[in-house]
Amino acid sequence: MRDLLIRGGRVVDPASGLDAVRDVLLRDGKVAAAEPPGKIPAAEAEVFEAAGLVVAPGLVDIHVHLREPGQGYKETIATGTAAAAAGGFTSVCAMPNTTPVNDSPEIVRWMQAPERGAAVRVFPIAAATRGSGGEVLTDYRALRDAGAVAVTDDGKPILGDAIMLEALKAAAKAGLPVIQHAEDTRRTGGCSMNGGTLAFRLGLRGMPVEAESGLVERDLLLLKKVKGGHLHVAHLSTAKALEAVRAARKAGLRATCEVTPHHFALTEERIGLYDTNAKMNPPLRAQSDQAAMVEGILDGTVDAIATDHAPHAAHEKEQEFDRAPNGITGLETALGLALDVLYRQHGMKLSDVLALLTSRPAHTLELKGRGTLAPGSAGDVVVFDPEARWVFRAAESRSKSKNTPFDGWELQGSVRLTVSEGRIVYRR
Ligand code: DOR
Ligand code: ZN
Repeated sequence: MRDLLIRGGRVVDPASGLDAVRDVLLRDGKVAAAEPPGKIPAAEAEVFEAAGLVVAPGLVDIHVHLREPGQGYKETIATGTAAAAAGGFTSVCAMPNTTPVNDSPEIVRWMQAPERGAAVRVFPIAAATRGSGGEVLTDYRALRDAGAVAVTDDGKPILGDAIMLEALKAAAKAGLPVIQHAEDTRRTGGCSMNGGTLAFRLGLRGMPVEAESGLVERDLLLLKKVKGGHLHVAHLSTAKALEAVRAARKAGLRATCEVTPHHFALTEERIGLYDTNAKMNPPLRAQSDQAAMVEGILDGTVDAIATDHAPHAAHEKEQEFDRAPNGITGLETALGLALDVLYRQHGMKLSDVLALLTSRPAHTLELKGRGTLAPGSAGDVVVFDPEARWVFRAAESRSKSKNTPFDGWELQGSVRLTVSEGRIVYRR
């Protein structure tokens, strides 16, 4: 592999606090050096001129659905990771609600095999219970040894108190976090959007915010009983659940959470007249919850921005609202939305926005050598123009599916180059 020299860009590496003009040398798939301009000889290296651009660690998405094995008509590991590369992501953590469910070391290994054609690094997240049935724990040590970085039944909650407690204990022993899809499904049966007056007007059944916050509160009580336990709340969407995480953290618990771009950028109003591209789970919420997500991001309670990239085929989304599947794609719009809403509109520091997309998610799931440009770490880099405005076109997406509520949106900050383990995987 040829050396790659990314020259003269503004290097922002939140992990080390670096924000300065640097040349970055990638060699043998790793970061070899980051030095002031002109110090590294170009010699044999391929050179990318990054003057005027930001050079950051490749982005880390701890929540994506890549649909393989079993649902390659929605997405494959190859197409999903191509979308990731176009969005600046170089590490993606793949959820286990595949067909079959990823509850075995064999599937964990299959997902990471070179034959899958991944453009960027895939970290599998394995099922917390067999078949994600919520009854019998999977073998956490074996899954970890095969490469799984967490356990979850995402798409569904781990509902029973006893099984959740068992999961937290077994995961703590294996050194893995338990990721909870916090939805008390005893309170959301038949619901297809957020509970409230809008659901009433649209004639749809709505999920109360307490279906999320109640399960988070239950999980935090259980976490208290587990020495060394780590609970991570997936796609947190309500002010009440956020408050519970904030309080638990103050009390010293290892409780972390992620928020999606759609939950900080949109409200339930985006559903309009039953647009299924605005249907996902958890649903878009009221404006007060959206504001709380931004607040939690600004005050540091939120640990990561994660997309919940959930591709579905057009024929599945083109149904009555309550029959259409939950989920939207997100890998190619996440950075643009984060920069537009958090950096431009709310004045957040660029390095703080990038921390939520690099060092903090990498730390949350302990992805060693990811989300940083420290010498010796993976040669994962994104180069983007932070001030460029651009229009996202779903039809041009690398994802196999086009189910996004952001088609035609003007976003901030366009990706110019993505490098995964020293190889260029996207260039524009
Ligand atoms: O919107 C969602 N889509 N929420 C989930 O929990 C599952 C996911 C999917 O797999 O499509
Ligand atoms: Zn999910």
